[in-house]
Amino acid sequence: TKFWLVIPAAGVGARMAADRPKQYLQIAGRCILEHTLHCFLDHPGLLGAVVCVAVDDPFWPQLPLARDLRIRRAPGGRERADSVLAGLDSLLAGGADSDDWVLVHDAARPNLTPADLDRLLDSLTDDPVGGLLAVPVRDTLKRVGSDGRVLETVDRSVIWQAYTPQMFRLGALRESLAQALEEGVAVTDEASAMEWAGQSPRLIEGRADNLKVTRPEDLHYLQSVWSQGR
Ligand code: CTP
Ligand code: MG
Repeated sequence: TKFWLVIPAAGVGARMAADRPKQYLQIAGRCILEHTLHCFLDHPGLLGAVVCVAVDDPFWPQLPLARDLRIRRAPGGRERADSVLAGLDSLLAGGADSDDWVLVHDAARPNLTPADLDRLLDSLTDDPVGGLLAVPVRDTLKRVGSDGRVLETVDRSVIWQAYTPQMFRLGALRESLAQALEEGVAVTDEASAMEWAGQSPRLIEGRADNLKVTRPEDLHYLQSVWSQGR
């Protein structure tokens, strides 16, 4: 399956609270964004990639991958969805077809395995809508009242966590995202924009350790795992 890639990498990493955006923190000799890009660069299906970085980002131009001809740069936006939209527009302006598949993957998810990537691509290649990697929740879930006491236990068998990559047709995703943003709908991932447009994305079960590095303990976890060899 041939696919384009959009990597939103324009966040500031407020919850990580480091001296730079978390995608530029080092794990095992490379920054997180480099690890993330390397999850895709050797894949035979990759048509090209866009990295969405803040316009005043001083770190991206210093990376060797900034000179890789398969990767172009797009301006990041205020929210993640704005960044992704800029990336999709950059692909379309560069000659990508609106019927092509596009994968959107968080810059802050450097631990995607080749097997998970291939399962997503193979499972969705003939799908009319597309979908995303997801993980069933593991813990018992409680609905809580404003007084901090349990109202009820929620049926967790129907609750999944949305991961990335998320895989949709370029044109359909672009239109759904643009319209949702225009209407002021909160879209925290690509699937929610497609849902808002009336589509039902398919969930493909992935590994739980394809985590989004969000807080310092996530960084420490990957640093310790990868110090034992990735
Ligand atoms: N992102 C982006 N543009 C934004 C906000 C986020 O491209 N305006 C990207 C981040 O760089 C990250 C991904 O979207 O790769 C997921 O977002 P998140 O984990 O929330 O990253 P940050 O927004 O950087 O972190 P925080 O919310 O803690 O500030
Ligand atoms: Mg954020």
